[in-house]
Amino acid sequence: TGRCVVAVDGPSGSGKSTVSRRLAVGIGARYLDTGAMYRAITWAVLRSGVDLTDAESVTKVAGEVDLRIGTDPQGYGVTADGVNVDREIRGPEVTGSVSAVAALPAVRELLVARQREIIANAGRIVIEGRDIGSVVAPDADLKVYLTASEAARAQRRSAEDAADVAATAADLARRDRLDSTRKVNPLQQAPDAVVLDTTELGIDEVVARLRELLTERG
Ligand code: C5P
Repeated sequence: TGRCVVAVDGPSGSGKSTVSRRLAVGIGARYLDTGAMYRAITWAVLRSGVDLTDAESVTKVAGEVDLRIGTDPQGYGVTADGVNVDREIRGPEVTGSVSAVAALPAVRELLVARQREIIANAGRIVIEGRDIGSVVAPDADLKVYLTASEAARAQRRSAEDAADVAATAADLARRDRLDSTRKVNPLQQAPDAVVLDTTELGIDEVVARLRELLTERG
């Protein structure tokens, strides 16, 4: 039970969060949801009222937020300036703006540094996001890239959020496009990542496969 870093990347709705949390519980590791960090910063930016297209002001707000995130896979919480934002960061306002905030280089620099600190302190951790295997933890012990068909991803997300499938599909497509085409640290598959298509796989099967891979790698 020494150091072990598992990087899980992929688009929205690919099953990253559920799989990562279950894997972390199974191997006795901490868990970090980096999307929640970008979302919490976005929540603070929206609350501050600065114009989202004003990169300088957004960056300033982002730098001043007191962001705290837990790493317990069975009950992590996120606070921004002392306010618990677990629910609000999943709402449509934050979801609609997060990709724009996450595209700002200074915001990424700030959060990548925080994420590396958390990894160093945790020792054993499953960390999920868009740029984990490629940028945040290029020396991870296992890198996984989860995918699923657009239809499957929209179906899962709309079920989770009790939202309309067509609207969810449109939102996922929009965020994937923004996240994959931004200049700094776009969503990308690390060359040494194991790619798993979860369209036809159950969560338990994916988690079992990842545990197998970890065992194989010692
Ligand atoms: O994973 P989740 O859907 O919560 O992520 C929300 C948004 O945060 C993504 O659409 C993306 O814009 C941003 N993000 C990112 N890099 C990460 C994690 C999330 O840019 N490592």
